[in-house]
Amino acid sequence: MRIKLGSKIGLTYLVIIFTVMLLFAYFTLLDIEQSFINERKNALLSYANIIAERAAPYLPEQDTAYLNYLAEDFGENIGHRVLIFDSNGIILGDSSGLNRGHKPTIPSVAASLQGESVSQTNRYPDFGRLLYLAVPVAAGQQIVGAIFISADINDIDMRLAQTRNRLLLVAAGSAVFAFLLSLLLARIITVPVARLTRAAAKMSAGDYGCQVKVGSRDELGQLAASFNEMSKKIQREDEFRRQFIADASHELRSPVASLKVLVESLLLKPPESKEETMEFLTDINGQLDRMSKLINDLLLLSKIEKNEASLNKEPVPIRQLLVEVKESLRPLAADKQIEITVTAGDGILWPADRDMLYRAVYNLADNAIKYSPANSQVQLIRTADEEKLAIRVKDQGIGIAHEHLGKLFTRFYRVDKARERATGGVGLGLSIVQEIVNLHGGQISVTSVPGCGTEFVINLPS
Ligand SMILES: Nc1ncnc2c1ncn2[C@@H]1O[C@H](COP(=O)(O)OP(=O)(O)O)[C@@H](O)[C@H]1O
Ligand SMILES: [Mg+2]
Repeated sequence: MRIKLGSKIGLTYLVIIFTVMLLFAYFTLLDIEQSFINERKNALLSYANIIAERAAPYLPEQDTAYLNYLAEDFGENIGHRVLIFDSNGIILGDSSGLNRGHKPTIPSVAASLQGESVSQTNRYPDFGRLLYLAVPVAAGQQIVGAIFISADINDIDMRLAQTRNRLLLVAAGSAVFAFLLSLLLARIITVPVARLTRAAAKMSAGDYGCQVKVGSRDELGQLAASFNEMSKKIQREDEFRRQFIADASHELRSPVASLKVLVESLLLKPPESKEETMEFLTDINGQLDRMSKLINDLLLLSKIEKNEASLNKEPVPIRQLLVEVKESLRPLAADKQIEITVTAGDGILWPADRDMLYRAVYNLADNAIKYSPANSQVQLIRTADEEKLAIRVKDQGIGIAHEHLGKLFTRFYRVDKARERATGGVGLGLSIVQEIVNLHGGQISVTSVPGCGTEFVINLPS
């Protein structure tokens, strides 16, 4: 059976409070009983002593009339049975008048005829509880008799029972109160927990981004805040992924469509000349290049995305790396009579993943050439101090309008979609650069003046 958290807490409090109250009541009752009995005992003791004092002169001469009167008088006064014994243990005065002249064997009387004061309580099935008290009667050095009082103390039991009932009532009352209060407390805890549970269930069912409202600022409030944060992040991530897949498929569709058109027209009407065949094959090859570039970029992105651990860091000779980029782009640059210059001082080594860094600089330089007019210059410049390395890629190209700068590093973002699809770019180059730089713990920035040129700067920490 599933017991709710609230009931568990409530029942626990109930049991704890009730047990504690019962123990408290038990020991309190014991104390009260003892003090009641002591009080009664002391009162009777002082009466007994007074009787003893009065009786002392009359005991040696066995003045039974007076002693009897004494017993009756006090017995009536205090409401208990009073017996006056002589030194032989014979009753000379009896407040009830029943046992005069008898010689009963009462151990406490025998003890007080030896000089002791004795008291004791006893419980009888017929009378209930009785308190016995016996004191010696002394005349000078001699013990001339004993006073015996037997008192019915059932009233003490009654008062104890009353107190016990009252304590039980208080115990039960406070246990119930604690139970209700803890139910309330549990609600304060379980309501937000239930909300969180529902939200988590919603999220696992795919409803990302759902938010939990918890007003408090305590631990539960913090938990809810973290949950909301996480939920939003997952939602963003999810949207990002959907968008990414949609964009990637979209980009793949256009080369596939072109290929389809080319191949269909070949099937419909096979080329007659060798030139025509070559023309078709060149077009097909171009589309395949485009697809393979896109797929390579996508694979690279997913590789970079994994984590920093995928970085293969080593001391990289930066100057050499820039020269390699220049060399591999030479044919592209030569087509447009663009001059690439490398400005880098001594052979500095910097910790980085060589292939990745190469890829980043290559992408920037590739863009610089692509978006520059003929007969211009592209500069690859390296500056460095102890903690920071900067690689600048500067061109004299068309530049980028201010409003595009913010979105430039977004995946599939292109300034001029129509034209750049023709140039073969899909808009993944800069986002790859940014991922690589971030993975190295660095930053990338861009400044541009439309019509004049653009400069990208990669900053890497050591
Ligand atoms: N050096 C540059 N000069 C002008 N525009 C640039 C330059 N570099 C990038 N861009 C703009 O930024 C867009 C995104 O670049 P990138 O991510 O490399 O995609 P692409 O695949 O189109 O090259 C490009 O389409 C282009 O419009
Ligand atoms: Mg590019």
